[in-house]
Amino acid sequence: MSIPILEARDIHKAYGRGQARFEALKGVSLQVVAGESIAIVGKSGSGKSTLMHLLALLDAPDGGELLVEGQDAAGIGARQVSRLRNEDFGFVFQQFFLIPNASVLENVVLPLKIAGAGARERKERGMAALEQLELADKAKNRATNLSGGQKQRVVIARALVADPKVIFADEPTGNLDTATGLLVEDILFDLNRERGITLVIVTHDPELAARCDRQVFVRDGLIESLSEPHAEPDSAPGGTEERS
Ligand SMILES: Nc1ncnc2c1ncn2[C@@H]1O[C@H](COP(=O)(O)OP(=O)(O)O)[C@@H](O)[C@H]1O
Ligand SMILES: [Mg+2]
Repeated sequence: MSIPILEARDIHKAYGRGQARFEALKGVSLQVVAGESIAIVGKSGSGKSTLMHLLALLDAPDGGELLVEGQDAAGIGARQVSRLRNEDFGFVFQQFFLIPNASVLENVVLPLKIAGAGARERKERGMAALEQLELADKAKNRATNLSGGQKQRVVIARALVADPKVIFADEPTGNLDTATGLLVEDILFDLNRERGITLVIVTHDPELAARCDRQVFVRDGLIESLSEPHAEPDSAPGGTEERS
């Protein structure tokens, strides 16, 4: 098997100190294969978001290792970590995290701005992302003046604008009605199928989890069960006998 795009090895994470110390992750190991969709499921408080944040390098583990394409994240410099987060990773959160008084386009191009792209490139790529999400006509609107479904599509446009390898989504449909949630799910799975973008989705919705290639069940800071990654197409019968 090729090197996983993301790998957690026996990671631990605690919040707080002394009496208030709480072990959110108690030794979790997980491999994410490029191109797959993986659901992280479990009850509220089980550690799902913590695991996603660590995989996305938004936070560092207290123990264990996190590898990005085989490289230990602890050995990657801070600048490269922020570059990875900004350019290789896209984020979709339940709470949207849009800048309310900025325009839709300004919100979408934020990752490009952070990456230092010029105004013209930002506008071109931002509009292209908005067109994909059928929101080009809303580019100049304020983010506050949108429906929930439109906001989440803006968030997906922002997640896409820097052409990421992985999209991390934490309860992406949690604030949406069922029909709008399904549309947002369709957009995410289309990106996975058509562009090979890896999806890491935290959810407590069993139907959304079932749409993913595999499911990781988290309970009290531990992985309770997980399905193995599917065999890759190039390891199908025929011509790979020499592989060990
Ligand atoms: N910043 C924090 N400070 C203190 N405790 C936290 C913090 N973030 C999460 N926790 C606690 O860690 C546990 C796991 O949280 P989280 O990973 O958000 O779970 P989930 O996403 O499965 O609901 C919960 O008990 C939560 O209260
Ligand atoms: Mg959570």
